Amino acid sequence: MCGIVGYIGRGDVKDELLSGLKELEYRGYDSAGIALMEQNHVTSFKATGKLKNLEQKAKEYAQDGGIGIGHTRWATHGKPTELNAHPHYGTYSYVVHNGIIENYVELKKELEAQGVKFVSQTDTEVIVHLFEKNLEKLGTGDKAFEATIAALEGAYAVLLLSKDVPETVYFARFGSPLMLGRNGKQEIFFASSDAAILGKATEVAYLEENCIGKVENGTIITDFEKGCSDLEYKALRGDKVSAQKGGFRFFMEKEIYEQGDVLSDTLMGRVFENRVHIDELEDMDLEGISAITICACGTSYHAALSSSYLFEHVAKIKTDVVIASEFRYKEPILTPDTLFVVISQSGETADTLEALKMAKNAGLQTLAVCNVDNSSIVRLCDSTILTRAGIEKGVASTKAFATQMAVLWMCALFFARKNGVACDMDAELKALRHLPKVTAEALRHHEKIKRLSKRYLHGHGFFFIGRDLFYPLAMEGALKLKEISYLHAEGYPAGEMKHGPIALADSELFTVALMPKSQLYEKMKSNVEELSARDATILTIAPEILDNIADDFLVIDEHGHVMSEYFEMMVVLQLLSMEVAIRLGNDVDMPRNLAKSVTVE
Ligand code: F6R
Repeated sequence: MCGIVGYIGRGDVKDELLSGLKELEYRGYDSAGIALMEQNHVTSFKATGKLKNLEQKAKEYAQDGGIGIGHTRWATHGKPTELNAHPHYGTYSYVVHNGIIENYVELKKELEAQGVKFVSQTDTEVIVHLFEKNLEKLGTGDKAFEATIAALEGAYAVLLLSKDVPETVYFARFGSPLMLGRNGKQEIFFASSDAAILGKATEVAYLEENCIGKVENGTIITDFEKGCSDLEYKALRGDKVSAQKGGFRFFMEKEIYEQGDVLSDTLMGRVFENRVHIDELEDMDLEGISAITICACGTSYHAALSSSYLFEHVAKIKTDVVIASEFRYKEPILTPDTLFVVISQSGETADTLEALKMAKNAGLQTLAVCNVDNSSIVRLCDSTILTRAGIEKGVASTKAFATQMAVLWMCALFFARKNGVACDMDAELKALRHLPKVTAEALRHHEKIKRLSKRYLHGHGFFFIGRDLFYPLAMEGALKLKEISYLHAEGYPAGEMKHGPIALADSELFTVALMPKSQLYEKMKSNVEELSARDATILTIAPEILDNIADDFLVIDEHGHVMSEYFEMMVVLQLLSMEVAIRLGNDVDMPRNLAKSVTVE
């Protein structure tokens, strides 16, 4: 949610900022802006919409060497207008900010009482005016910045530069990610995600929570009262090429196609002849654990719900799942026999992070299933199993979900063995090892789905129905469709349709039925028949053609294992939502109103 970049060096400052922002654009694309400083002269550009608009605006400008800050925005306070775009400025200072300033209304009132005129509706603008007021009062940039940060409440990362403090950029991290990269060419980079500095910086320091500092004349200085303590640099691995589209129309499509490969990575070193081995779980003291609570949001929540069936069916361990944004207000009863698990692709989701903090404060053991190493969630959890999906750029999560499910399935098998629960471990492990193949082979449905999609564009709504762990998969199918096609869709338990929603059934109601052969197949058939009798338009995803009850069919393999069916259907649902959205002319990778990483509550 929003992306920040900064650059200090002798290179082309504008290009450095824009190329960094390009990598972060998927995090927010309502508007973007940059500010570039050369000695005590600052030039700034802002544009609404996608980054290309900003590139166009700044195309004549060139600056070799100096300092620059940039931002790509997902609107939280104020509409996506140019005035609300970052960098926000006062009389001589500029700021970019990611996160939320919770006490901005009070601060704004105080500043207005002192004669400050605000031009935007954002929370961010208070930072820059407060800095300038503090500079007038306190006389030095350092003191002014410290006092400014001390007055802010909320979760945020900030970069600030000022004509009155030449050759300097101030930085602060309080609850939103910020990192500092460097290379051997006397260049320093800031970014809210390392995707922006891959291929540029060779080392990265992930700033700790609640710290400030500055870069002055190319030197990083942190000896402030709340200065970031010794920065710990790590080699920055990963290459830019892996984050490019590689011939696919959209990142989402590429990421769907990558799932077989990333699943192989996820399983690597974790699945053995007769057991799964997960170092991160082996290292935890799980002796007193008799229950699991899982917290997550969105797609990760659907992985959580699906996995709760596995934990209960396979490992016989009581498992509750709570939407993270609801968790903390529910006054949950937390007992030490519960393992608290959070699932997050980004590792930065504010709701999930807050739920995690509550569980930690209550003394629970905490485990993250996460895709981004060094993210806030990873750093806070006692232990983390990385999902190894690689950078996911499509806003609609696909490969991250697949790898979360693989990890959670492995965890269920781990607990089954640990607790001595009888299950057909050989069959489970065989199915687990086949996962990459099943997922890759599921792509064979793509051509048929492309053709089918034209019949599913203009109804009055979609129901995705399933039973057991195919119910959360149905919810995930519905979420995928609505976020990129903007069509209304609901995931529903198939058996529950007759308790109300079936009233909506007519030929304009599209139903996608998930019908695995290995689970409650006959019951699903009855539920589909009930809808068919009311003339609903029905697409079945089943191991056979059911032409007496449905209109369209996607025939899946009879794998003999429920999870193989789950993964094949997962790919089918991802492709279906993508093809519908493409036919509707939508930007699949950057759907309206959304952002990849949701760092506000
Ligand atoms: C949907 C999607 C979102 C995220 C949710 C949680 O495709 O991507 O629903 O799943 O915002 O994000 P993470 O997993 O990063 O915590």
